[in-house]
Amino acid sequence: MIKLNFGCGPFHLDGWTNVDYQNKWEPAPDLHFNVQNPEYPWEKNSVDFIYASHLLSLFWESDILDILRQWHSILKPGGVLRIVEPNFEWFLDQYFKKSETGKVVFESSVLKTKRDLDDVRRSGKQFYTPAHQFQWDYNRWGHKFLFDSETLEAFLRKGVGFSGVKHCAINLSPHKGLNNIDRQRSSGGELFVEAVK
Ligand SMILES: C[S@@+](CC[C@H](N)C(=O)[O-])C[C@H]1O[C@@H](n2cnc3c(N)ncnc32)[C@H](O)[C@@H]1O
Repeated sequence: MIKLNFGCGPFHLDGWTNVDYQNKWEPAPDLHFNVQNPEYPWEKNSVDFIYASHLLSLFWESDILDILRQWHSILKPGGVLRIVEPNFEWFLDQYFKKSETGKVVFESSVLKTKRDLDDVRRSGKQFYTPAHQFQWDYNRWGHKFLFDSETLEAFLRKGVGFSGVKHCAINLSPHKGLNNIDRQRSSGGELFVEAVK
């Protein structure tokens, strides 16, 4: 069975080939590979599962579609792609909540983890508005594209030709091998989507 965890960073999955193009991670990836490389080392129709968490949002639209087409081509018929990405709708929701109160505070749910708050304090950054804060938070990780569930589904179905697109809850999947692989603690800010070839 071939299971590929693309853009794994330091978050390896047991029994999977953990793939990343950077050397800096500990543990190191099982395979160094750039997902934008047009020459994939896997045969067409040979891969059972692909997992990509917080990877596609680092690219512009045309690159996202090229990468998705490569993944579609190496998946077996019936193979499944599981994608986790930040959720545009959730960010908007947070933004409007903040705007209602008129407050710009770091202890908001946009900057939600202790690590996020520490990063802000270390940066000495002053935010004037919720939108200012949001853009700093989103762009500092190199994000370029922000999906909502509808757009991600349209890319998968209409842009690439996947069928059976399903919106999942965190750590849940109808496919046994894809359960309990998400590292996130809550599903508030993220989309969990699966697509079958
Ligand atoms: C935001 S991190 C996500 C890490 C992990 N998947 C997670 O959910 O936390 C994005 C990862 O994708 C990797 N990455 C970015 N561009 C890549 C590319 N072109 N090919 C392979 N990996 C890439 C980065 O090195 C980084 O480890």
